[in-house]
Amino acid sequence: MKHDFNLMLERRYNGSMKWEASYINKRFQTHFTDEDKFYPLFIADMDFTMDQGIKDKLMEFVGAGDFGYFHVQDSFYTSIIKWHEDIHHTHIQKEWITPSIGTITSLHLLSDLFSKDKNILILTPVYGPFYSCAQLGKAHTMPLTYCNHEYVIDFKKLEKTFQEKHIHTLLFCNPHNPGGKAWSYDELNQLVGLCKKYNVMILSDEIHSNILISSKPFVSLVCFFDQYDRIFVSTSPNKTFNISGLSTSYTICSNEDLNQQFNNYLSSLHIGAQRLGIYMIETVYNEGRKWYQGLLEYLRRNIEMTIFLLETTDMEVMKPDAGYLIWIHLPKVKNIDQFIMDLANQTHVLLETGSRFIENNEGWLRINTATNHDLLKEAIEKLMEFYNHYEM
Ligand SMILES: Cc1ncc(COP(=O)(O)O)c(C=O)c1O
Repeated sequence: MKHDFNLMLERRYNGSMKWEASYINKRFQTHFTDEDKFYPLFIADMDFTMDQGIKDKLMEFVGAGDFGYFHVQDSFYTSIIKWHEDIHHTHIQKEWITPSIGTITSLHLLSDLFSKDKNILILTPVYGPFYSCAQLGKAHTMPLTYCNHEYVIDFKKLEKTFQEKHIHTLLFCNPHNPGGKAWSYDELNQLVGLCKKYNVMILSDEIHSNILISSKPFVSLVCFFDQYDRIFVSTSPNKTFNISGLSTSYTICSNEDLNQQFNNYLSSLHIGAQRLGIYMIETVYNEGRKWYQGLLEYLRRNIEMTIFLLETTDMEVMKPDAGYLIWIHLPKVKNIDQFIMDLANQTHVLLETGSRFIENNEGWLRINTATNHDLLKEAIEKLMEFYNHYEM
C-alpha cells in the first residue's frame, strides 16, 4: 500500500521544537496558545508519519528490551554501503565508516580534534551551527557568489583566502543549506584540487544528499578520496527519514591514520553511538526504500507548487537540487528579522530568517516545504498576500 504523505504527525503536545507554542513564542515573539492555528515552516524537520513497516520493526526491537552495552554489528555497515551504492553510486568500504552521534555534533568533534586553534573557513551563507564549529578554531568566512539564481564559489578568491589566512580546515555543506545546491563534479574537483594544493582538510556535511529534487545528480566528496584523503564526510539518514532526535550519524574517511585518531578521540570521551539510533539507521536504509521514493514524489510536488506561486511575485527563488528547503530573496525587504516577526504575528506563518545563516544573507528567508501540501499552500498564499502589502 502506498504511504499517505498527507497524514501528519500530531506534534503539538510532544515537545516538538517545530510545533510547541511556548518555544515558538520565544523565538518569534508571538503569543500563540497550543490551540491556535499556525504554519511552522522554519526548523528543518518533517511532519510526515513514519513508514508502517519501519514502525513495526522498531516496536519489535524495543519489545526485545535490550538496551545494554553493545558492539555495532556488520549489518549496520552493510546497510550504509548498500545505500550509498544504490542511491549515489559511490563505493564505500567498511573501514572508512565511524558510527557517531549527531551529524553536526560529529563536525564539532572533528573540528575540535583536528582544527582546534587552527584557521577554519566556512562559505556563507550556510547552516548556522557551522559557525560554532569554526569557532573551535579561528573562524574565517568567505561569501559565496550569487549568480543566475545559484551560488558559485569564486575559486580565485578562495585560493587567496587559503594563502593569506593560512586556512587549515574547510567546513563545507554539500548539498548546500540554505541554497539547496548540489555542487557539480567540476566544482568539487576544483575545490578538492585547491585543498590538496594547500593541504586544507575538508569536513563535508552531506546530510541533505538523499533528498534529490532536481535532475542534477548529487556528487559526494567520497568520489575524490582517491585524489586526496584529508576529507571527512559527516552524514546520516536523519533528514531523509526524520530521525534527528535519535542523535546518531556516521563519518566516512579513507585515511587510516585520521580515522584512527577520530576513533581514539571518541573512545577517550566515552562517546559511542546509541543502540536505538544504530538500529534505526540500518532499518531505514534497508526497509525504507519505498517510503523514500514516495517522499521524493511528495516533496517535488510541494516544491514545484511553492515555486510556481512565488514566481508570480518579485521574490527571487533559488530552486533546490536537493533538500526540502527553499531559499528566497525578498528584494523590497530591508530588515528580514523584522519581516519574519511581523509575518509570524500577523499571519501565523513561521519561516526561518536569513540572519540565522551567518552572513551574506540580507533580504533572504528559508521555507521548509516538508509538510502537508494544503497547509503549505495556505502558508505560501498568506506569505504572498502579506509581502504584497508590507510597509517596508
Ligand atoms: C547542513 C546540516 N547539517 C546538520 C544538521 C543537523 O544534523 P543532525 O540533526 O544529525 O545533527 C542540519 C539540520 O538542519 C543541517 O541542515
